[in-house]
Amino acid sequence: MTASLVLTTAWMPWPVLAQATVQGRAVANANVKAPERAALCMACHGPQGVSQIPNIPSLAAQPKTYLENKLVLIREGLREIPAMKGTLDGVPDTELIALAQYFSAQVAPKSATANLEKLSFQRGQELAKSALCGTCHLPDHRGRDQVPRLASQHETYLRKVMQEYRDNPGPGRDTVMAAALYGINDAQLKDLAHFFAHSP
Ligand code: HEC
Ligand code: HEC
Repeated sequence: MTASLVLTTAWMPWPVLAQATVQGRAVANANVKAPERAALCMACHGPQGVSQIPNIPSLAAQPKTYLENKLVLIREGLREIPAMKGTLDGVPDTELIALAQYFSAQVAPKSATANLEKLSFQRGQELAKSALCGTCHLPDHRGRDQVPRLASQHETYLRKVMQEYRDNPGPGRDTVMAAALYGINDAQLKDLAHFFAHSP
């Protein structure tokens, strides 16, 4: 692996840093200009990284370190995403860092309001609490460092990736998540995804 970016793998709970947020939504930093290549990403990941497609994740307001790590893994072929094949071939670290910086500085997507199922939301909320998802993803699930944001992510996408983490993590994915979802059944994954998608 030729990557010179250091992948951050320490995930133990950290002291909580003060961050500018509006109800858990990061405030966009208009000073961060979009790198040229970001236009290509936005064709799939949506304007300013707010995805309009249920099985494509939003990148907006994802922690910068998480995005950097993922982009290196994708470029190196350690994390295979068929739709992104070739997209990052030979892209230098400096550009990956610029992309990560740009998308992490964008305003998070608005949480879903349509099709709210109150009981499913509540079950998801309670399960997220009892399963301690917030120790790593933060109590409002906005993520930090190498831990992704879950709040206001697409429900369809969240459900799919949680199933993968639990059943078949594959290369380029942190085994810590397989452990966190061990023993959680499909109905519970649906509740968790419903809760996160509808959380601001
Ligand atoms: C042709 C569509 C397409 C383009 C273009 C594209 N992506 Fe993606 N990307 C996807 C899909 C689909 C996924 C979700 C894969 C999955 O289901 O796990 C994804 C996932 C990701 C992820 C999450 C990776 C993970 O392991 O969970 C990141 C980060 C990402 N893309 C960044 C980018 C960036 C930055 C660009 C521009 C350089 C880009 N993508 C261009 C389709 C695209
Ligand atoms: C020990 C820390 C830790 C705990 C506890 C934890 N997670 Fe995670 N989670 C992570 C890390 C780190 C990643 C990124 C994994 C990777 O890069 O492969 C992640 C990724 C995810 C993703 C993928 C998001 C995306 O955009 O692709 C979902 C969904 C998720 N976690 C849900 C949960 C849920 C639900 C719980 C509680 C049941 C939980 N996590 C508990 C550390 C944790």
